[in-house]
Amino acid sequence: MNTPVKLAAGFIILLLIGCHQTSKDPSRMARESLGVASQQLSLSIENLGDTDLNPRTAENGVLRQVRSGDWTSGFYPGCLWYLYEYTGDEKFLEAARKFTMNLQSEQFNGGTHDLGFMMYCSFGNGYRLTQEEGYRDVIIQSAKTLCTRFNPNVGCIKSWDHNEDKWQYPVIIDNMMNLELLFWVAKETNDSGMYNIALSHTETTMKNHFREDHSSWHVLDYDTISGEVLHRQTHQGYSDESAWARGQSWGFYGYTMVYRETGEQKFLDQARGIADFILNHENLPGDMVPYWDFNAPNIPDEPRDASAAAILCSGLYELSSHLGEEGETYKQAADKILISLSSDKYQAGVGENNNFILKHSVGSRPADSEVDVPLIYADYYFIEACMRKLELESNK
Ligand code: GLY
Repeated sequence: MNTPVKLAAGFIILLLIGCHQTSKDPSRMARESLGVASQQLSLSIENLGDTDLNPRTAENGVLRQVRSGDWTSGFYPGCLWYLYEYTGDEKFLEAARKFTMNLQSEQFNGGTHDLGFMMYCSFGNGYRLTQEEGYRDVIIQSAKTLCTRFNPNVGCIKSWDHNEDKWQYPVIIDNMMNLELLFWVAKETNDSGMYNIALSHTETTMKNHFREDHSSWHVLDYDTISGEVLHRQTHQGYSDESAWARGQSWGFYGYTMVYRETGEQKFLDQARGIADFILNHENLPGDMVPYWDFNAPNIPDEPRDASAAAILCSGLYELSSHLGEEGETYKQAADKILISLSSDKYQAGVGENNNFILKHSVGSRPADSEVDVPLIYADYYFIEACMRKLELESNK
């Protein structure tokens, strides 16, 4: 080929690649990703066999499973419930039941604020899809147990019991997610006391946990008598004043969910404020999968956190559904994240990645723990995002 012909051929190839990139259809990608997820989870069910330990992550190719008391124990059964819903395949139903029941005793576990994650993703989805009374009973008891961690002087549920020398009454932004369990049970059982606990936590957090720009601190320490804030710090972020990526996603998803549960405009405004902080941040990369902290010191040479992206993506689809035409920007942002997470860069091939769906999440960078690994909660919120995308399209 002479040079002008080569140049023309190169131009046509670039044009075709360009067309291919822009023609990526998020609905099709959501369906394809759910197909990959179904295959990965089928393999994982086979490989796990009969065990009471639920998968959490894999480090250096070694699968790590956890006991029921671990904060991540509900996500694997949650993924199985979603895939049962998507495929109708009894294999997922059977496995979802089994891995859900692994958590049954946790309904009485008053030592953790993570009961919402654990019990609502597992038993909550189980009840939603089967309407079995046994599941409902467990959810109700779990919510009652979680309420025992509420201190009216503070107005919040206590997050952690560890590091007593460091914090008197730590409340972390992640805790917003655990309120979904309380709002659901409060409504289901007509329990205004429980509703008020969830509302109080939401309002106290909105007052104290956010900076002017709608970013949030990770850990707030409260005085248990006066309710005053004693410290504003981080545990998993880069610094006390930084914006830890997953924390921003937890807060955003949390306020979007609280708006759904309460219908109060101020919570919708809060969710939008947080979304705008994230989406307009100068350190949000072009593919919209955040670095593990928006203020990490060596950006762009810092690990990404696909879990923060998956939570954000799912929350953005919900936010868009509350906003009518104004929601379009948020839906487009969610589509963009879904397309990124569905790409080979983040989504593993079938049979790879210890059968987790997404690669490249970060558990705790400061503790050098679970850095650039698959994490089961990234998979859970990614599957949820794909389901929400398809639901939105079918409601059009
Ligand atoms: N809720 C704990 C975490 O996000 O790592």
